[in-house]
Amino acid sequence: MKLVLAFLACFFTLTISQPKANKIDAQVQALLKKMTLEEKIGQMTQVDYTAITNHYDDIVTYSLGSILWGGSSEIPDITAKGWAATYDMLQSFSQKTKLKVPLIFGVDAVHGHNNVDGAVIFPHNVALGATRSPQIVERIGGITAAEMRATGIQWDFAPCVAVSRNERWGRTYESFGEDPELVKQLGAAFVKGMQGTDLSNPASALACVKHFLGDGGTTNGKDQGNTEVDEATLRAVHLPGYVEAIKAGAMSMMPSYSSWNGVKMHGNKYLLTDVLKKELGFNGFLVSDWAAIDQLDTNYRSAIEKSVNAGLDMAMIPNGHGQKNSYIDFITMLKDLVKKKKVPMSRIDDAVKRILTVKLSMNLAGNLYANKELLIQVGSPEHRNVAREAVRQSLVLLKNNNILPLSKTGIKIHVAGKWADSIGAQCGGWTIGWQGISGNAISGGTTIMQAIKNTAGKGTKIGYSVDGSGADSSDIGIVVAAEQPYAEMVGDRTDLSLSNDDQAVINTMKAKGIPVVVILLSGRPMIINSSLEKADAFVAAWLPGTEGQGVADVLFGDFNFTGKLPHSWPKNMQQVPINIGDKVYDPLFPYGFGLTYKEQAK
Ligand code: BGC
Ligand code: BGC
Repeated sequence: MKLVLAFLACFFTLTISQPKANKIDAQVQALLKKMTLEEKIGQMTQVDYTAITNHYDDIVTYSLGSILWGGSSEIPDITAKGWAATYDMLQSFSQKTKLKVPLIFGVDAVHGHNNVDGAVIFPHNVALGATRSPQIVERIGGITAAEMRATGIQWDFAPCVAVSRNERWGRTYESFGEDPELVKQLGAAFVKGMQGTDLSNPASALACVKHFLGDGGTTNGKDQGNTEVDEATLRAVHLPGYVEAIKAGAMSMMPSYSSWNGVKMHGNKYLLTDVLKKELGFNGFLVSDWAAIDQLDTNYRSAIEKSVNAGLDMAMIPNGHGQKNSYIDFITMLKDLVKKKKVPMSRIDDAVKRILTVKLSMNLAGNLYANKELLIQVGSPEHRNVAREAVRQSLVLLKNNNILPLSKTGIKIHVAGKWADSIGAQCGGWTIGWQGISGNAISGGTTIMQAIKNTAGKGTKIGYSVDGSGADSSDIGIVVAAEQPYAEMVGDRTDLSLSNDDQAVINTMKAKGIPVVVILLSGRPMIINSSLEKADAFVAAWLPGTEGQGVADVLFGDFNFTGKLPHSWPKNMQQVPINIGDKVYDPLFPYGFGLTYKEQAK
């Protein structure tokens, strides 16, 4: 079995032709021979933009290999042009180094190029899981890559192929769903779309598959927690996404902050080296998560030793001058560890070989600066149309007492809820800021409220209130309920009930005696029982991103509902975790549930 897997992996990673691969290999070997230990370690060092600001000469001094922008590492001008200018400025420093090896720049473009004002923001992965469509995910990967390359950035810390098994986890929305089969299909589709047919394409970007391994399986859904399962379960549930991503040509991956049975993944040699690199034949490189090696040992030097020896190839370092565990510490300590033979030179060479192979395969040197011809595509109508299509495909209809589709003429609609007119709530976390934005602080896009107005005919009156007041004489009420945006551990919850405010709006509207449609914006299933009973129709809209128009397209019947639940929907918190395949399985709605208009008409 292992042999078959390794063979398949080798077979499919050959996305470049053999002569080309041989040529790259020769170039890598030649470069390695010219490199000093310092230069090699520089390639293994990835520095956050905020850590290097005002110290750009360090790129030359330390021959740095990579720069990232963390979720909140903003530059002053966040338009696409502003990003491209900053990228070009930073990249120019690489050309002052002895070997002129280009820097590779990483970013979390997890639902579109989401740190750029004016970029299209796609639905988060949980919503894409509901589409069940590898085709749309592949297109999204391609568009995200093009918008990234317009700003120069060539490396995306995506796709997240976590299999989220517990909705308490704040990163559930970054996962395509609870079923390994679904995650595997959509993760591979994203890799293909992002990387295109050839890594050297100047409109493609490098995918980084994360977080290896078992991030979605931690006990109680705790972010960065401990996944307590036996190896057979770990492999059956959490590994397939990686196997498939390797087949699709993935050349970079990120270990998880989390642990497997008490052992932190960043120090797990068995899984990083023996399973991933040897057994599965992964030839790409491993970049750490944000300051993640620091968690291996209170002594930074020992932490570096453990992670590099476990198989880590590049460290993501957010700290700079004067800070603890800075990139300068990393470089100095790793050099010393090699000198003292605590980290073998062969390990350094292997890491650098992996990194250089990717850089050369991408022809970074040939496309050094931002691809400005692509700037016009950032947030273009064509890109937004694909996002709008993805939104339509992702909506899951949970209940419909023949209220939907809405009529476009001659009715009075009252929209309520503080989230009805909020792009920020539609986008959720990882949008402009790490924790997302509130309100409409991003250019372009359509809120659900605006979309309803756009779609309803002229004869239709549309009212709005935050709390549902003023809905009395309306024919229909629409309540938009939502989770406040969050990212990572900030979103861990022990209680997933709708907020009191949202429940109160639903109650107020229902008390007016009008039919009520509830649209839920959330990163995961929530506990909705009493609201579901009160609602005449209930739509799970997940985190649709900027193109709220896709919601109105389906509400008014221009398109049908096709979305299917990517998670089993729990009745109450006591039921969580509940997943397809459980021995006892009695959810509110099963995995795969989703009504359509045709069924309703029967
Ligand atoms: C997250 C990663 C992300 C990295 C860089 C970490 O906190 O776990 O998913 O890629 O930060 O922003
Ligand atoms: C950064 C994120 C990172 C997180 C880790 C934030 O400050 O912006 O990119 O994932 O810290 O805790």
